[in-house]
Amino acid sequence: MSGVRRIKIKDILASQQTDVDVVVKGWVRTKRGNKNVVFIAMNDGSTVNNIQIVVDVATFDEGMLKQITTGACLKIEGLLVTSVGSGQPVEVQAKSIEIYGTADSESYPLQKKGHSLEFLREIAHLRPRTNTFGAVLRIRHAMAFAIHKYFNDKGFFYINTPLITGADCEGAGEMFNVTTLDINNVPKCEDGSVDYAQDFFGKQCSLTVSGQLEGELAALALSNIYTFGPTFRAENSNTPRHLAEFWMIEPEMAFYDLVDNMELAEDLLKYLIQYALDNCMEDIEFLNKMFDPELIERLKSVVGSEFVRLDYTEGVEILKNSGVKFEFPVDWGLDLQSEHERYLVETHFNKPVILINYPKNIKAFYMKQNDDEKTVRAMDVLFPKIGEIIGGSERESDYTKLKDRAAEVGVSEQDIWWYLETRKYGSAPHSGFGLGFERLLLFVTGMANIRDVIPFPRTPNNAEF
Ligand code: 4AD
Ligand code: MG
Repeated sequence: MSGVRRIKIKDILASQQTDVDVVVKGWVRTKRGNKNVVFIAMNDGSTVNNIQIVVDVATFDEGMLKQITTGACLKIEGLLVTSVGSGQPVEVQAKSIEIYGTADSESYPLQKKGHSLEFLREIAHLRPRTNTFGAVLRIRHAMAFAIHKYFNDKGFFYINTPLITGADCEGAGEMFNVTTLDINNVPKCEDGSVDYAQDFFGKQCSLTVSGQLEGELAALALSNIYTFGPTFRAENSNTPRHLAEFWMIEPEMAFYDLVDNMELAEDLLKYLIQYALDNCMEDIEFLNKMFDPELIERLKSVVGSEFVRLDYTEGVEILKNSGVKFEFPVDWGLDLQSEHERYLVETHFNKPVILINYPKNIKAFYMKQNDDEKTVRAMDVLFPKIGEIIGGSERESDYTKLKDRAAEVGVSEQDIWWYLETRKYGSAPHSGFGLGFERLLLFVTGMANIRDVIPFPRTPNNAEF
């Protein structure tokens, strides 16, 4: 059978053609049978479904068959036939079997039984081989592809912004230092502070929390751009919705006001969810069955609903009048917690909410100031089960206002002089937002913990793998 090409299991299961020779490669999920016939369920990650391999025990070496256990990697050559069993449309009658790699049944951690998601996090090097993580990773890929497709179709340009930066975009001081200084023997200035002039970049640098500032530079030349890359936050919040390293999509548009910005955000989210429903249904059905029985319903409901647009001030009133005893206080001027966001979305409106015009003191320096001198043209998109999925704003385009606000909140002009210059030369109204990629995936997969929608999560006290 030399010359027969390996076929992915997804394609075999979809093919209408039987009684042909095929080559299948993949990992054993289960093996069962009797002394005459053995059934091997094999998976190669192309689909959540397995292919059944039927092995006539008499025609193979017994010792070789013994080595085939859950987790082993095999090459099977055989005949694709219509299955007589009820579990699958087709199966492969093995003619030859090659074992690429065995998996000792005593020590291989992914035996047949179900495993807790917590346990699987401890074996993140092997969890892609589970149905759950196969499904999540395929959906993750599909969403990344759909994001590029959406923006490309709309004439947005993909811009790569630096990961190493001297500016704290969000001004929250949650940056990871990037240094080559010997931390056991740090050079000091006369006043005792660290002498960053001797560091690799000649100044203090960090991993970026957002590509927005550089994204704006590009938007003020190319009109519509987006970034899609990793961002880093040293916030010590151990929650099911926070990662220290996460991916963010940041579109930035010249000549967009806050309303245009909201429309784009709503359209993008609906497009992505619809894309998942259209292209990832097998995996979504699996996750719906295993983890979240309302997943499909929720996805369809969001695609079909018109997002509520609401002032922060009104949102706070609703929360105060709700009669609910929240864990965190609600008052004008305080930031909303996830419990507040979810009350508005899940209990009060029962659909996504875009909250706008937040108090300026709880938002970043770059947001356009409203005439009331108290609020800024911010928008947060709040989703069921997730809370904040998008944060964005119209940007301050007035040079003096922006410069003064940066100074007020302690962002040094020295760090962002280049950003300020775009308001000095050909400034334009513009807007943008950041969509947390893993927050989107939480929503689309129905998984409950953000650590389970990224292959190798980075969280406080955890950087294994
Ligand atoms: O609201 P954030 O902090 O906004 C920005 O960074 C802006 N510069 C974006 C922009 O306007 N271009 O973050 C944006 C989104 C959040 O809404 C959330 O979805 C996600 O990024 N996010 C996180 N996701 C996972 N782990 C974290 N620690 C996150 N912090 C923010
Ligand atoms: Mg935010």
